[in-house]
Amino acid sequence: MKFIVCSSKAEAIRRGVELVVGEIGRNPELVLGLATGGTMIRFYSELVSFSWEKKISFSKVRTFNLDEYVGLSFRNKESFRYFMEKNFFDKVDLKKENIVFLNGEAKNLDGECERFEKSVKNVGGINLQILGIGKNGHIGFNEPGSSIKSKTRVVDLSLETRKANAKFFGGKFEKVPREALTMGVSTILGAEKIVLFAFGKEKADAVRDAVEDKIGCEVPASLLQRHKNVIFILDKGAASELKKLRNT
Ligand code: GLP
Repeated sequence: MKFIVCSSKAEAIRRGVELVVGEIGRNPELVLGLATGGTMIRFYSELVSFSWEKKISFSKVRTFNLDEYVGLSFRNKESFRYFMEKNFFDKVDLKKENIVFLNGEAKNLDGECERFEKSVKNVGGINLQILGIGKNGHIGFNEPGSSIKSKTRVVDLSLETRKANAKFFGGKFEKVPREALTMGVSTILGAEKIVLFAFGKEKADAVRDAVEDKIGCEVPASLLQRHKNVIFILDKGAASELKKLRNT
């Protein structure tokens, strides 16, 4: 695991954006795994500006989003698809046919997850996967208890996650769906490179558990320790509980 610890969130985002733009520069056909959540909002706005400035085109990039709520359509403002359209897809020259998204409204949810897995395989896997982290150590919507072998599937959301995500549902956790579709842990670990962003003290315990705890499914992000090419991009707050870095 590598760490980039920055003095501010703005600097951390800039480092992440440079990294992604660099990868697209080297491989214009990059297969990019994308994440949603509050952490990612500024990342996308900076990525959009920087790619305009550097004249980086997404026209050959293919994207796979990590997750979606069950029962929300892409027109629903709380859906992850809507989040992505608003914050990123509508602002760059990505081709619609190169965007792969889980459909939370599919009649056959298991079939939808199989379709997603096949699409990942058909493009030869994900080159670069972007992740955030939940306060309980979840990645995508792989909640505590998720197996390292898990594939894309339907999952129950924990109360903690529904409460954390209530900020996108007018503060009402009862409105947050109880189920979601998520890329599996093994699907995520299949990516060539993984970049995880975490900002603020509220993520410090989750980051510490992911990095310094033993590997185990109770902290799904700790399963990333099994991957050869993971970079954590953190601000000071999110890195504040890391023993390794405290002593450097
Ligand atoms: C959501 C998403 C995750 C994201 C996490 C953190 O539940 N499914 O992919 O990493 O929450 O969200 P935030 O950045 O809002 O803290």
